[in-house]
Amino acid sequence: MKLPFAESYKIKMVESIKRSTREEREEWIKKANYNLFNLKSEQVFIDLLTDSGTGAMSDKQWSAMMLGDESYAGASSYYLFKNTIKKLLGFDYFLPTHQGRAAENVLFSVLVKEGDLIPGNSHFDTTKGHIEFRKASAIDCTIDEAFDTEIDHPFKGNIDLNKLESVLKNNPASKIPFICVTVTCNSSGGQPVSMQNIKDVYNLAQKYGVKILFDSARFAENAYFIKVRESEFKNHSIKEIVKEMFKYANYATMSSKKDGIVNMGGFIAFDNEEIFKKATVFNIMFEGYITYGGMSGRDMNAVAQGLNESTEFDYLESRIKQVEYLGNQLENYGIHFQKPVGGHGIYINANHFLSKVPKEQYIAQTLAIELYIEAGIRGVEIGTLLADRDPVTRKNRFPVIEYLRLAIPRRVYTNNHMDVVAAGLMNVFDRRDKIMTGYKILKEADIMRHFTVELEKI
Ligand code: F0G
Repeated sequence: MKLPFAESYKIKMVESIKRSTREEREEWIKKANYNLFNLKSEQVFIDLLTDSGTGAMSDKQWSAMMLGDESYAGASSYYLFKNTIKKLLGFDYFLPTHQGRAAENVLFSVLVKEGDLIPGNSHFDTTKGHIEFRKASAIDCTIDEAFDTEIDHPFKGNIDLNKLESVLKNNPASKIPFICVTVTCNSSGGQPVSMQNIKDVYNLAQKYGVKILFDSARFAENAYFIKVRESEFKNHSIKEIVKEMFKYANYATMSSKKDGIVNMGGFIAFDNEEIFKKATVFNIMFEGYITYGGMSGRDMNAVAQGLNESTEFDYLESRIKQVEYLGNQLENYGIHFQKPVGGHGIYINANHFLSKVPKEQYIAQTLAIELYIEAGIRGVEIGTLLADRDPVTRKNRFPVIEYLRLAIPRRVYTNNHMDVVAAGLMNVFDRRDKIMTGYKILKEADIMRHFTVELEKI
């Protein structure tokens, strides 16, 4: 008999989680104004809100923490982190930051000015936020296939070269501080960018004299997909693929809370000393001194170890096979989600799932609430609430697809938990035709409203 697949780790420490009753959940979510961010974590059984900062560290990471050097300047933990980035990604210059958006804030303070254009593949919200905050514009050049969940394309994070070239051709290079390539592309479903696409983007950037930034939160998961889906790389190690990917980037920002497998941390890496030096000024102002930038020595040690672990094939295979395990069950049940499965979660197509709920009543949020009430599972809406209102017309911006994202934390849940998630969703799917109405907004903030919005059931 062929031996089945099993994770390449065993569990050394556990944390209790609590089941609840449907009646309790109905009351809790009502009290939370139908906003899942307002729930207490103890009111959630399986928490798939995010894979960011929610992973389980290894024994080696915990032991590295004990060796953290907490010196204000010149800590050995800083050099360990710096050398790891040099070894894995190849960059000579680097600054630690407390998380990914802080890295964006520091780097964009140097590079982005009013009126600039930043083409890329479905920029993440905080990236877009930091661009728009500086009165510049993020231009989405993702391939069209990414906007149809049923098309099975191996690299739905790819940049459409025609869309990109038209931005580069029609605008002076001085207005384009960089092209932003998000690996993997979170907003399109944790979808990877192929090595070929990375090279093609690089060649276009060279032609027009423009730099490239990698938003690298999930770079290791991207490398895994290159290995298993791009035949040229099937015999390369993940570390070799990572090194090759980053040859085509001038800068990298990273939220280490994802593929660094830590609870907090981030960094910026540069190939250019001049930009690095300019950024140090902002880093000192916003984050902390050059050699800690908002991170403790112990946390820098843990990221250095985490980066080494996340760039191992066995780890990535265990992780992404778990996402596939959930995806296969949903697919067999006829539930539509972004296909093929992404690196860090399943993105359910809520328009298809709840086709009777009007788009003005927040379809994906309605599905997120139904799944919570059904099984105590917390996902996150990536739909109209997240998209915010148009800054000029103040009208709702309706995305092409309303997603319910189920992000899977790293090394945290077992496949039994995935079975509960699948069963919970199937139960909601079975009664989907009875769900005809959604929610209306009682209170909302001007921007980033989904974190604090208050809703009422219609
Ligand atoms: N870039 C990407 C692609 C991200 O997914 C995130 C965060 C960030 C930048 C910002 O990093 O949170 O450390 O400041 N994504 C989280 C998520 C929040 O749930 O997808 P951060």
